[in-house]
Amino acid sequence: MKSEHVTVLTDKFEYKGWDQVIPIQPEQIFFYDYFEKERLQNKRVLEIGLGSGVLSIKAAKLGAKSVVALDINPRARAIGGFNVVINNVQDIVDIRSGCADDIYRPVKDEKFDYIISNPPFEPTPENENYYLNSAAGIYGLDFLHALFKDLNNHLNENGFVQIVTMAPGNKTEPFLLTRMLEQYFPGQEIIVDLDHQPIGYDQFVDRFVEIFDMDRARVQKMKEQASKDQVTDIFMVMICFEKGKNGSIKYRHSKKLYENWTTPLGKEQSLIE
Ligand SMILES: C[S@@+](CC[C@H](N)C(=O)[O-])C[C@H]1O[C@@H](n2cnc3c(N)ncnc32)[C@H](O)[C@@H]1O
Repeated sequence: MKSEHVTVLTDKFEYKGWDQVIPIQPEQIFFYDYFEKERLQNKRVLEIGLGSGVLSIKAAKLGAKSVVALDINPRARAIGGFNVVINNVQDIVDIRSGCADDIYRPVKDEKFDYIISNPPFEPTPENENYYLNSAAGIYGLDFLHALFKDLNNHLNENGFVQIVTMAPGNKTEPFLLTRMLEQYFPGQEIIVDLDHQPIGYDQFVDRFVEIFDMDRARVQKMKEQASKDQVTDIFMVMICFEKGKNGSIKYRHSKKLYENWTTPLGKEQSLIE
């Protein structure tokens, strides 16, 4: 029987290049906890945003028939490719170059049974050079809009979606995400598991000044916009749904308490169980 254990090489947090291959953080552990093994058996999987390959490799080891994994970052494709080989899933995982302005172009006309993603989702000041793995506009939702837009066209009937992301809102609900889900998937049953520790929006974006030495005025503008939009907190969330299952959006709390999400997120690890 094939081992389900995954070992990956990633960049360190200290690597500050735009092309950083994201280290292991609590969000990947969160993702592993929600993988639906039964649904993966002999199925075709698409991953949007390979990075180190930590999710695609796990999907392959849990029983997927094939995994197509996209990334626009050549460093991720190189390191992810290395990790695919050392985990011996090179016959299952097919790494392809991503496309910056049309996420799904590399899989045009293809459909999948299970689509996974840990997309770039950090609220980021406009026009700031920040990690390709994280920059996603002032609410961290820019990439998610593009991902949601054509998602259903690449899912087989009853296909499954699993996405981990940050989502802004108030202390009780990531209401900006709710609006997006209603816009792109009306009438669809969607389960959103919320982490137990939302982070204050202002506290989160202050990191850009304190740690990344970015322009204070630009960060201040983000805070003012958030205040106008009544956004006070950001949640880490897991979004799961089965295409074609009618219902509503249901929020729950995650089954586990994860490590804190603020940077550096979690311990530096090279191994993942
Ligand atoms: C948050 S990282 C997640 C990486 C990995 N899946 C993980 O969980 O560690 C997001 C990844 O999406 C990639 N990405 C950004 N834009 C993309 C696009 N248009 N198409 C495919 N991948 C993209 C980034 O280069 C980065 O590797």
